[in-house]
Amino acid sequence: MTFSRPGPLLTARDLRKAYGPTNALDGAEFSIQPGEVVAVMGPSGSGKSTLLHCLAGIVPPDSGSITYDARDLAKMSDARRSTLRRSEFGFVFQFGQLVPELTCVENVALPLRLNGSSRKDAERTALGWMERLEVDGLKGKRPGEVSGGQGQRVAVARALVTGPRLLFADEPTGALDSFNGDRVMELLTEAARSTNAAVVLVTHETRVAAYADREVVVRDGKSRDMERAV
Ligand SMILES: Nc1ncnc2c1ncn2[C@@H]1O[C@H](COP(=O)(O)OP(=O)(O)OP(=O)(O)O)[C@@H](O)[C@H]1O
Ligand SMILES: [Mg+2]
Repeated sequence: MTFSRPGPLLTARDLRKAYGPTNALDGAEFSIQPGEVVAVMGPSGSGKSTLLHCLAGIVPPDSGSITYDARDLAKMSDARRSTLRRSEFGFVFQFGQLVPELTCVENVALPLRLNGSSRKDAERTALGWMERLEVDGLKGKRPGEVSGGQGQRVAVARALVTGPRLLFADEPTGALDSFNGDRVMELLTEAARSTNAAVVLVTHETRVAAYADREVVVRDGKSRDMERAV
C-alpha cells in the first residue's frame, strides 16, 4: 500500500483563460481527491475541454493556480510537466487517438515503450490491461479493423497501462451508442477504482455522469462543485 498525503490530489483556483474576446474560463474552481471520479458537465462551449486541458498542464491558464500533489503546475519547467503527464496522468479522448499503423497491443504498450520498457515487458503488461478491458482478443488488429466501442476500450487500456494517478477523459463515449458507452464507462470506472486512479470525466450526458462520485457544472467558464470535496 502506498502512503499518500491527505487532501486533494489536484486543486485549481480562479482559473481564467481568454481566446481573443472569448472568456473560455472565467474564474473556474476545481478539486479532486485521490481515487475520486468527478464528472465535469455543462453545455457546449461552456469551457469543459479548456478546463481539462488546463488541469492536465496542456494549456497554460492566463491566471489562477493549479496544484497537483502539493506542487504548483505553473512553477514546473515544460520538461517536468511533460514527464508528469507521461508518468502520472492518463488521457482518453472522443476519438482519433490510436496510432493507425500499430496493432492494438502495440498501441497499448506504446506509453511503456516511450518510458523505456522492453517490447516484451511492455506488451505483457499491455495485454493484462487489454484483458481487463475485454479487448485482448483484438491484440493483433489495427485500430481501423475494430469497432468504435472496442477502440475506446483499447484507448482506456492505453491510458491506464502506466498506472496513472489521474485519468483525464474528454467525452470518452461521445462517439458511441448508449450500449457501448455504458460498457466503456463500466470498465473504465472499474479499472480506475481498482488502481485508485482519480478520473476527471468531461461529458454532457447525465447517463455517463452517473458513473461519477460527484459532478462539477461548468457554465460560461465558471465551475461550481455540486457537492464540494472536503
Ligand atoms: N483554441 C481555441 N481558440 C479559440 N477559441 C477557443 C479555443 N478553444 C476553445 N475556444 C473557445 O472557448 C470556449 C470554450 O470552449 P471549450 O472547448 O472549452 O468548450 P466545451 O465545453 O468543451 O464544449 P463542447 O461541449 O462543445 O466540447 C468556446 O467559446 C470555444 O469556442
Ligand atoms: Mg469539449
